[in-house]
Amino acid sequence: MEAHVAHVNEEENEDPGAAPYGNFINYYSFNPPENRLSLIPETLLENIGLGSERVLILDVGCNSGDLSVALYKHLLHDEASGSDFPQREVYLLGFDLDQDLILRAQNSNPFPQNIQFIPLDITDDAKSQAVLESYVGKFGCLRFHLCTCFAVTMWVHLNHGDAAFLSLLSKLASLCEYLLLEAQPWKCYRSAARRLRKLGRSDFDHFKTLEIRGDMAAHAREHLENQCSMELVQSFGNTTWDRSLLLFKRR
Ligand SMILES: C[S@@+](CC[C@H](N)C(=O)[O-])C[C@H]1O[C@@H](n2cnc3c(N)ncnc32)[C@H](O)[C@@H]1O
Repeated sequence: MEAHVAHVNEEENEDPGAAPYGNFINYYSFNPPENRLSLIPETLLENIGLGSERVLILDVGCNSGDLSVALYKHLLHDEASGSDFPQREVYLLGFDLDQDLILRAQNSNPFPQNIQFIPLDITDDAKSQAVLESYVGKFGCLRFHLCTCFAVTMWVHLNHGDAAFLSLLSKLASLCEYLLLEAQPWKCYRSAARRLRKLGRSDFDHFKTLEIRGDMAAHAREHLENQCSMELVQSFGNTTWDRSLLLFKRR
């Protein structure tokens, strides 16, 4: 799998022609971590009752790891300053299907004791289940405390169809106690498909046949709440790209 250079188009959407899985090599130069982090409270872990224990975080589709590392630091905000919050250990596992991006993430990882990056495809059910179960198992846990999935749903949906979109959500729900989800809105799909057409590619031809369309955040919420025993506990508002960050909790 080869990572691709992204270009910002007039709608600030990614160029899918160059990166059919959203595996842009320079993603963070046009969507810096701060765009999302500014919406997520530094006290998120304390707010959801994970202030004093060992915390396991999974970042799905972590690209070159910039947002994963920035999120890790963000959530550890004042550990070093001897604040009122109790000390705790936070471990983050980031994975992505693009091996080149993972290599970059590994090579620039500032906290290798606590953060790990591995190549993995979330749609490879058997392998991903085994690898992720083994990771949490080493900590004596059944699930991650928090799973983040930023800007990945559209790529799985476009590449693998409606069933895979729902199955991704079900899998995320099964992996964690809390899920922080940023689902791309439908206008991004249209933009992705249009750019592919312009490039004469037919990779996403089944885009027209997708039945799950429209308000993608609402579709994701409906599936997570009705089929996956999760409930929406908070919305952190919309990013500069007009995408909502939704926090779900296992019921
Ligand atoms: C648009 S980028 C978002 C990166 C990061 N999550 C963020 O929001 O900053 C989408 C990422 O999802 C990854 N991805 C797409 N399909 C995937 C899959 N089936 N399994 C794992 N990663 C996937 C791509 O390689 C790409 O790095």
